[in-house]
Amino acid sequence: MDFDLVVRNGTVVTASDIWESCDIGVKDGTIVAVGPRLPVAPGAQEIDAEGAFITPGGVDCHVHLSQANHFLHSLFSDSYHEQIYEATVGVDIDHSVITNGVVPDRENYVSDTYDTGTRSAVAGGTTTVVTFASQMKKDESIIPVIEDYHKLAKGQSYCDYSFHVIITNPTPQIVENEFPRMVDEYGITSVKLFMTYKPMKLQDYQILDLMYSARKLGITTMVHAENADIIDWMTQHLEEKLMTHPHHHGTSRPPIVEAEATNRVICLAELMDTPILLVHISGGHATKHIRDAQTRLLPIYGETCPQYMFLLADSMRKGDFEGAKCVCSPPIREDKSDQDAIWAGVKNGTFTIVSSDHAPSKYNHPNGKQRGLQHGNLPYGKFHSIPNGLPGVETRVPLLFAGGVLSGRISPQKFVEVTSTNPAKLYGLKKKGSIAPGFDADLVIWYPQANFQPFNLTNEMLHHAIDYTPFEGIEFKNWPRYTIIRGKVVFSHGEVVGEMGYGQYIRREKSLLPGPRDVWLSEWRP
Ligand code: URP
Ligand code: ZN
Ligand code: ZN
Repeated sequence: MDFDLVVRNGTVVTASDIWESCDIGVKDGTIVAVGPRLPVAPGAQEIDAEGAFITPGGVDCHVHLSQANHFLHSLFSDSYHEQIYEATVGVDIDHSVITNGVVPDRENYVSDTYDTGTRSAVAGGTTTVVTFASQMKKDESIIPVIEDYHKLAKGQSYCDYSFHVIITNPTPQIVENEFPRMVDEYGITSVKLFMTYKPMKLQDYQILDLMYSARKLGITTMVHAENADIIDWMTQHLEEKLMTHPHHHGTSRPPIVEAEATNRVICLAELMDTPILLVHISGGHATKHIRDAQTRLLPIYGETCPQYMFLLADSMRKGDFEGAKCVCSPPIREDKSDQDAIWAGVKNGTFTIVSSDHAPSKYNHPNGKQRGLQHGNLPYGKFHSIPNGLPGVETRVPLLFAGGVLSGRISPQKFVEVTSTNPAKLYGLKKKGSIAPGFDADLVIWYPQANFQPFNLTNEMLHHAIDYTPFEGIEFKNWPRYTIIRGKVVFSHGEVVGEMGYGQYIRREKSLLPGPRDVWLSEWRP
């Protein structure tokens, strides 16, 4: 047979099966054959997997890169009474400052851009990312926003990529006239909304407006579910008591904050009969609301992230301020029972996907995590000014493989399902997420287990532009040996060997998972 590449002798895993002593034949970037002892014509490239696991390339559908909000120094914090909110709603924000792929001042840039973020992705076995094109509150059209992010990403990406759009201002013009263009012209079939963060949050009425149009167009709505008023009230009252150390970020957002908003938005989605994905779920209480809705056959999907599976809130208690490194929203939880509920939710299918929520800010940077130290003279600063979010695009797949599969917590098939197959299905990436004829040849070849020397992670080993990892010191019992995208090796034995610009923009189809049911709660119909 006429292959360009044959990967030999692997233990090939899909979301349903495992085949030992299996070969994969690739032609023109596509998998064309899977089976034992494939014949190889002279000139074809061969890679010997030496019996090691081969899994589909990771598909990470929650990654923040070059986001204007980050560029504007971290709107992802709750310091709403500071000027930043005013700047966002009142003053012109020029998207062009971040366009054409040119980062104005790389040293001063606080987060990851398309080049550094996707370089990090491939080094951790991720072959496709879906990042965010983020509307600003004042924007009255999302088309220039999408165009701006295209300019940022074009020619800059090491892996394939697509966009979700963050909606902060769902005007009738946008949801009625521009959503269809977003789907048809740009191949974007998902939007994210926020129920918290003053510069971004939507009221329930606006959420219904958005869902109404999303349902008609087969768009999946991603929801950041936290109760904004509880957070504001708690923050104010904690500050009055000088309880502002980074770990009080968690005190201000106990699990009920997430659970209430999760339940509320599930009710709105049931009313509107539309599919939603609850993103970055952190606690057992919210997990139960999602599980109960799924038991009632509602098209409610759940996402969790490695930080909620592998870390606990003690990570925010380190030092006077070092805990800021682990400040993200929802917060990493105090209670082991929440972590256990998250693992149970991964195993029992409540969580459709595990994403990184890679949303980093440098630690040693005045507009990064250090912003939390800028107000007052407390050595431990103020948690509400710390930019929220963590780096994790490179560690997601290896953490789930080593800490999930090799530790016996999840099966290899479940690992593939939540890190690759389901994200691809949920977001309409039809050629991604499996190892079968017709799929893109996006593969991760692991090390043969017997030869692998376990190591403890340090930030220097990673390929992002961030000066720390929240997973520092964790032991890894394996790591991707090769990452292959559309038949080309882009990462090999610790080195990124792919080129910036190889990554292609992917237009997405509608979700391949169940959608509206045509079941209504009253006589009203859309
Ligand atoms: O803390 C987080 N997760 N920051 C990133 C923005 C978001 O809410 O996804
Ligand atoms: Zn979020
Ligand atoms: Zn996020």
